[in-house]
Amino acid sequence: MTVSGAPGGLGDAPGGSTGDASGGARPTYRIVAIPGDGVGPDVLAAGRRVVDAAGEQAGFGLDWREVVVGGAAIDAYGASIRPEDLEACAAADAVFLGAVGGPRWDDPSATVRPEQALFALRGGLGLFANLRPVTVHPALAESSPLKTALLADVDMLIVRELTGGLYFAARTEATGAPGSRHAEDTLPYADEEIARIVRLAFDLARGRRRKVTSVDKANVLATSRLWRTVAGEVAADYPDVALEHRLVDATAMQIVRWPAGFDVIVTENLFGDILSDEASVLAGSLGMLPSASVGARRTAHGLLGLYEPIHGSAPDIAGKDIANPIGTILSGAMMLRWSFGRDDAATAIEDAVSRALFDGVRTPDIMPTDPARAAEVEPVGTVGMTEAIIARLDVRSRSAATGSIA
Ligand code: IPM
Ligand code: MG
Repeated sequence: MTVSGAPGGLGDAPGGSTGDASGGARPTYRIVAIPGDGVGPDVLAAGRRVVDAAGEQAGFGLDWREVVVGGAAIDAYGASIRPEDLEACAAADAVFLGAVGGPRWDDPSATVRPEQALFALRGGLGLFANLRPVTVHPALAESSPLKTALLADVDMLIVRELTGGLYFAARTEATGAPGSRHAEDTLPYADEEIARIVRLAFDLARGRRRKVTSVDKANVLATSRLWRTVAGEVAADYPDVALEHRLVDATAMQIVRWPAGFDVIVTENLFGDILSDEASVLAGSLGMLPSASVGARRTAHGLLGLYEPIHGSAPDIAGKDIANPIGTILSGAMMLRWSFGRDDAATAIEDAVSRALFDGVRTPDIMPTDPARAAEVEPVGTVGMTEAIIARLDVRSRSAATGSIA
């Protein structure tokens, strides 16, 4: 199963399929772990176990440092992330995050919010590209509310701009009395901000099916018209990759009408946020999907990145050993590939996840709805799924088999 947009076509991609393992000395990668809130600690513990197991098999070391971020940090320190913890993230090879936020910190009038930590990390580390691969495991097609026939061959990569647009621009909170309140958000984009993310989308498309869909709202927004122009300019350097422009509303429709028609989707921050949640329905559960956020900053081993499942903190199921850890485990695989250049270990983890699913191992969110089918599968919790994946992990056979990045 290929779940990541592999950096195969990237000019400044991390090292080859065996990373720096060939360099002789046993490499050690430094990771800041952020369990966060809600189910964050459950799924991050799972992800760490799998990454550690891969390291043991492949012969690399992992130097973990855990920091408190999000709602937990608001409780402990009064800030969503402390400057020294942000610095620790900037000094690491990668950041591995569970989830942040929860109803306890959701008061709309609060000035300190858990999500601010995400923006501090994304902005502070310059992580302008958020990669959200959406694939449908054949064994899970029945878990999606969409018709199974529509899900065959779905393999899309959403490339979301992550440090610009509405999220990072000036806003005015509402003031005044009811009836005269006014609030404002602004949506700016500079051409170079657009060009760098669109270029990345084209580079990634070269390692895939060579099609880029640039999504905008050019019939209304000035920033979208600039986006469309710049996307066209970038495309001129990629004559081997097809570019199509689509409006965001029509794209939302097409994602459920014919999802297999998409290869790489590139879009601005808010559109990417919305479309990626929509697309996650294809995979059967929000719990299945990983993400990587990267920018231009390099470490000794690859690109500095932040890796997290796309689901939120799901406080109602926190600490109950029922959260699906697969989105986090696959994010760990993306970390191995993008930040450490360890395609061998990354692919082995993806294969192990795939095998566990084929073998019928299921957390509650991906149980078949048909009772007859449900009786045939192996129901497990977070820990059970993690152990099932580790039991199927075989990095050595992958190192022998790889050399190419799918
Ligand atoms: C995401 C999330 C965040 C976002 C929230 C938690 C601020 O929805 O990563 O998609 O909107 O970027
Ligand atoms: Mg979102």
